[in-house]
Amino acid sequence: MSLRNTESHYGKLTIIMHWLMAAMIIGMIVVGFVMDNMEDGDLKWKIYALHKATGVILLILALFRWYWTLSNKKLQPLESYSQLDIKLAHAGKWFLMLLILLMPVSGLIMSIAAGKSVNMFGLFTIPGLDEKNHQIAGLFHSVHEIAAWIISAVVGLHILFAFKHHWLSKDATLTRMLGKN
Ligand code: HEM
Repeated sequence: MSLRNTESHYGKLTIIMHWLMAAMIIGMIVVGFVMDNMEDGDLKWKIYALHKATGVILLILALFRWYWTLSNKKLQPLESYSQLDIKLAHAGKWFLMLLILLMPVSGLIMSIAAGKSVNMFGLFTIPGLDEKNHQIAGLFHSVHEIAAWIISAVVGLHILFAFKHHWLSKDATLTRMLGKN
């Protein structure tokens, strides 16, 4: 298997990034909703710090993912796909790519504007604004929260469609992202 995509196969790096980012994003969504509903205290703030630092890593991965997707060959749709399948897959993919960028960007802007720094696993710190901007912080807090519900629904649909193709249509949609064909 080559590193880059061909017209019929995903490359190694696309497959690794897909599953790594899928696990991280699902983890971030679950942790995000759980921490938001926790009682204030040390554990909550530790989880916040972890969520924020991991989110910044996801932002870097998301930017690389955009570059990699745009600079790689686009796979040809499978023969079994209908025109509707092709349109839905295309729209779903780009909507998800946008949300994967919007989530960390909105989280980071919200934190910085609220004057909260992001400690990157003790390596360095992204500082918050000295003069907090409550309006911007509030706006991006709402964006982060609304986008969190939308990305949860889109990820859920994405998984449902993958299983629908695998079990009902019995095509290679899922297995080609596993590098099996
Ligand atoms: C792909 C990346 C990310 C995902 C999927 C994600 C997901 C979530 C979710 C689901 C919530 C709960 C939403 C709510 O009910 O309020 C949340 C809250 C939060 N996120 Fe993120 N997040 C990401 C990146 C970030 C980043 C990069 C930061 C900051 C550097 C951040 C900071 C926060 C904060 C501070 C909250 C709590 C907001 C509050 O107190 O209500 N997130 N996130």
